[in-house]
Amino acid sequence: MKLSPVFQSLLTSAVFASVAVAQYATGDWSLVQEGHSGVSALELVVVSETTAVIFDKVEHNALQTNGHVAWATELDLVNKTVRPLNPTSNTWCGTGSFLSNGTMVSSGGNPIVIAGGNGLAAIRLFTPCEDGNCDVLEDQSVRRMASLRWYLSSARIEDGSILLIGGSWDNAIINMPNITNPTYEFYPPKNIHGYNGTPIHFPFLDETMNANYFPLFIQLPDGNFFVAANKQAMIFNWKTNEEVMRLPNIPNNVTISNPIPAGATLLPLRPETNYTPEVLICGGSSYPDDIPHWERFVMSSQEPTSDQCIRMVLNEEGIAKGWEVEQMPQPRIMSEMVLLPDGRVLILNGAQTGISGYTWASEQIGESDADHPALTPVLYDPTAAPGQRFSQDELPTSEIARMYHSTASMTPNGTVLIAGSNPNDDVEPDNEFPTEYRLEWLSPPYMTHVRPSYTGLPETFDYNSQITLDVDIPQDAQNVSVVLMDFGFATHGVHMDQRLLGLVSELSDDRSKLTVTGPPSATLYSPGPGYVFVLVDGVPSFGHKTLIGTGAQPPFDQGAFNNVLSQQPLYWNNWTAAHPETSDEERQLFSTISGQPAPTPTY
Ligand SMILES: *[C@@H]1O[C@H](CO)[C@@H](O)[C@H](O)[C@H]1NC(C)=O
Ligand SMILES: *[C@@H]1O[C@H](CO)[C@@H](O)[C@H](O)[C@H]1NC(C)=O
Ligand SMILES: *[C@@H]1O[C@H](CO)[C@@H](O)[C@H](O)[C@H]1NC(C)=O
Ligand SMILES: *[C@@H]1O[C@H](CO)[C@@H](O)[C@H](O)[C@H]1NC(C)=O
Ligand SMILES: *[C@@H]1O[C@H](CO)[C@@H](O)[C@H](O)[C@H]1NC(C)=O
Ligand SMILES: *[C@@H]1O[C@H](CO)[C@@H](O)[C@H](O)[C@H]1NC(C)=O
Ligand SMILES: *[C@@H]1O[C@H](CO)[C@@H](O)[C@H](O)[C@H]1NC(C)=O
Repeated sequence: MKLSPVFQSLLTSAVFASVAVAQYATGDWSLVQEGHSGVSALELVVVSETTAVIFDKVEHNALQTNGHVAWATELDLVNKTVRPLNPTSNTWCGTGSFLSNGTMVSSGGNPIVIAGGNGLAAIRLFTPCEDGNCDVLEDQSVRRMASLRWYLSSARIEDGSILLIGGSWDNAIINMPNITNPTYEFYPPKNIHGYNGTPIHFPFLDETMNANYFPLFIQLPDGNFFVAANKQAMIFNWKTNEEVMRLPNIPNNVTISNPIPAGATLLPLRPETNYTPEVLICGGSSYPDDIPHWERFVMSSQEPTSDQCIRMVLNEEGIAKGWEVEQMPQPRIMSEMVLLPDGRVLILNGAQTGISGYTWASEQIGESDADHPALTPVLYDPTAAPGQRFSQDELPTSEIARMYHSTASMTPNGTVLIAGSNPNDDVEPDNEFPTEYRLEWLSPPYMTHVRPSYTGLPETFDYNSQITLDVDIPQDAQNVSVVLMDFGFATHGVHMDQRLLGLVSELSDDRSKLTVTGPPSATLYSPGPGYVFVLVDGVPSFGHKTLIGTGAQPPFDQGAFNNVLSQQPLYWNNWTAAHPETSDEERQLFSTISGQPAPTPTY
């Protein structure tokens, strides 16, 4: 019998649909409120199987440490309690990424001086520990950036160091030509392109003014980077310092970076598709980004935001096709995108109107420059047919607004940790959108199933090497697979480094051993921490932690390192000239630490 083309395509989609269903565990979602972050979680990063680090700005949190207010904590993911940490400069508007040796680097932040450290050039190290004794290590006479950066991005690169890019050297609601830092640098510093550790000009950041804070910077399988800011996108090669290719602009004049950020992620990279990369960017705003529109009280907390989701396959064919455009159930800015181990994407948090920040817009809600929090997450299935990718009805709705300075992250246990929100200059318990300390834990349906488990993951897992795990999986298991995840670092609605890489694996005949091959290359997954999940019919095991590669130190160039330390950071003179009141700020800050009134807002 010959089928009509219509019937044939119906049949094909029915087959696809049944495969897609088998891929995911069925059941109910749940949302539980449990625990407090101690400080407001404006930056969030999982650092071990059982702990996460949370950074806040300096403000009047009740939690105290070393005789002053705490503005960072380590959260125990199991018993949901915190212990204060002690960064010595303000991490506000900073970023973070991991080195190959497992140390997390927090960089950049706020200029206000605390105990000798100005956060704008800060490099802070955090090496996770088991004994509860590790803390943030910071001494800018020993290590720091080569320039001042607030609202910067960071990325793990293939050699195990990190790349730091963009931002500005002074505080402002939006980037401006007189404060921008349109450069990139490395940590540890490299002697590359003749710069010997000092910042390297990045013209794309001049071109994408003004709304280009926290540019998207995502490593692709060939080692090049997908870069996007404002309404533009391109592919960049840091090894040659060249723009490889200009990509089509963001469709429909939508801006996708801060202060009106979209959520973004690389979709899962899988051996079945030869690791073909594809990016997904959802939300943003088409509010104009020229400076007069951003003068105080010009824009409103009621400005509409965008419901546009765009994705593009980053190979020759995909780029020729351009962006595929879809619509989310609601518009959003400041949302988070969290990859699930089963390959789907959660879009959560954020606001449906307004802009990032506080005390700047007209029609402020309390101090918030945004309104209409998006309270129900959206689930996006990248493998479903167009028109069937978004679902929301079965997802729980929160009672907690998570807007400016909110965060979310996948955890090793498979739950999604949701934290933060503080569209206020200081701690404000009484505003309509208060300073938020409550934590929420979102459990996808797979959490209700009997979980597969495994043992035998070594402390380091090298490229192309094979390891054998002892697995405990149900007898009727059909689809057994392994994924490696970087949960990334969440700051300001941007999720640095998040990725999911499918690993090649083979189950023994008696189904008790799973042989897993390490990532094929360091450009597919940079050396350093990763979490390995064994998935059985859409139900993930606990994600145990390993160091991909050998755990070796990142490359260290003593000459470039010394050169950075031998001179003032780039833009230091501009900053001191623009802030003759520095010593006053210091005094104000010390009064903050001792629990006196907070300094006046810097904007
Ligand atoms: C993982 O989550 C499950 C279900 O919520 C819980 O019973 C279990 O204690 C959690 N395990 C860890 C290590 O957090
Ligand atoms: C939570 O776990 C941590 C790490 O094991 C421990 O130090 C802390 O005392 C625990 N807190 C509570 C309240 O059980
Ligand atoms: C990791 O490398 C950085 C940069 O060289 C270094 O400062 C840090 O101490 C190293 N961490 C460990 C655990 O060796
Ligand atoms: C920073 O200061 C230098 C030296 O004073 C000056 O030449 C430069 O124009 C300033 N840059 C900006 C962006 O203001
Ligand atoms: C930069 O320009 C803006 C807008 O003209 C102005 O308000 C601000 O003071 C300037 N900042 C510096 C550091 O020059
Ligand atoms: C795109 O938005 C900018 C403001 O951000 C505006 O000036 C421009 O006219 C818009 N272009 C189109 C084609 O709508
Ligand atoms: C098996 O599961 C993996 C991971 O979820 C998925 O990528 C793959 O498509 C599934 N295979 C089949 C045949 O369903």
